[in-house]
Amino acid sequence: MATKILVTGGTGYIGSHTVVELQQAGYEVVIIDNLSNSNRDVLKGIEAITGIAPVFVEGDCTDLDTLKKLFEQNPGIKGIINFAASKAVGESVQKPLLYYRNNLNTLINLLECMPQYGVKGIVFSSSCTVYGEPDVNPIDETAPIKPATSPYGNTKQISEEIITDYIHSGAPVKSIILRYFNPIGAHPSAKIGELPLGVPQNLVPYLTQAAAGIRKELTVFGNDYNTPDGSCIRDYIDVVDLAKAHVVAMRRMLDGEDTDSIEIFNLGTGRGVSVLELINAFEKATGVPVPHKIGSRREGDIEKIWAIPDKANNILGWTAEVPVEETLANAWRWQKSLEK
Ligand code: WQD
Repeated sequence: MATKILVTGGTGYIGSHTVVELQQAGYEVVIIDNLSNSNRDVLKGIEAITGIAPVFVEGDCTDLDTLKKLFEQNPGIKGIINFAASKAVGESVQKPLLYYRNNLNTLINLLECMPQYGVKGIVFSSSCTVYGEPDVNPIDETAPIKPATSPYGNTKQISEEIITDYIHSGAPVKSIILRYFNPIGAHPSAKIGELPLGVPQNLVPYLTQAAAGIRKELTVFGNDYNTPDGSCIRDYIDVVDLAKAHVVAMRRMLDGEDTDSIEIFNLGTGRGVSVLELINAFEKATGVPVPHKIGSRREGDIEKIWAIPDKANNILGWTAEVPVEETLANAWRWQKSLEK
């Protein structure tokens, strides 16, 4: 009997790629998503890759009755991966209550349901944004948590604390918290990928739209930072590598012997790449020029952050493998598929 996993936000960017990897690893998947930042067609993309249609429930995790009904109608769920959250840094500054209500109520409802329905563990989608601007790079999980620079980042910090306090209160559940660095790319099949609604806020979707001529040009937000080429540095991690980390985490959490009730892992490649380096890597990988210009800094951006992934490598047994050029070629293939 396959182990059944609930994936909240499972039609989203990272969620959909994780559903594919869970199914291919033999898990049975139930998705709940309110489709506020994705669409139902993603389900077809998942099935086109795996041949398996996940159970899909359209619903909002901030509604406790919706969740209870889902658990009653889908008995035997053993683990949860929680992706369902609002995630636009800039929007969170404009609409903080929406972010606190959506991101925190979702988590609290899930945690409350777990003991009642026999769910053993929850993998939580966190972010390197909890570290703020590190004093030194690269960083491991012991790097200090700095005051959040946005309500979005604050919801990730508060969520980690909620999980910790709940488990320390004696709740019979476990958790693995995954702090993502910068997820990019798309599934090599080009059947699923990033679907930004409106003008992309993140670098790679904007870059591929500029390369495709959908946007006039990419603006590099500043080249006067204290970095080798003046542009910001990030740790860009392939979305399929990231998805695979969730499968490994779920297996460890549900089947691992003597693992702690709560564990935290940085998920990154360990390599810092600047904005200008990423543009060059895309052009090298695809042969397609990226029209771009240097603009002013974006408020709230941090200068540089990249991971020490040793804990995930050595304890989780997971390592990022996809070279950034291949990731960018997949992102381009996905962008071109959207035009068909
Ligand atoms: C990356 C770099 C920009 C757009 C945020 C969240 C993080 C996660 C990913 C949700 C920066 C530069 C960008 C553009 C640019 N969110 N840039 N021109 O800000 O590192 O991380 O998104 O999971 O939690 O904090 O990602 O892709 O927006 O920016 O020059 O048009 O690209 O200045 O240096 P970021 P990003």
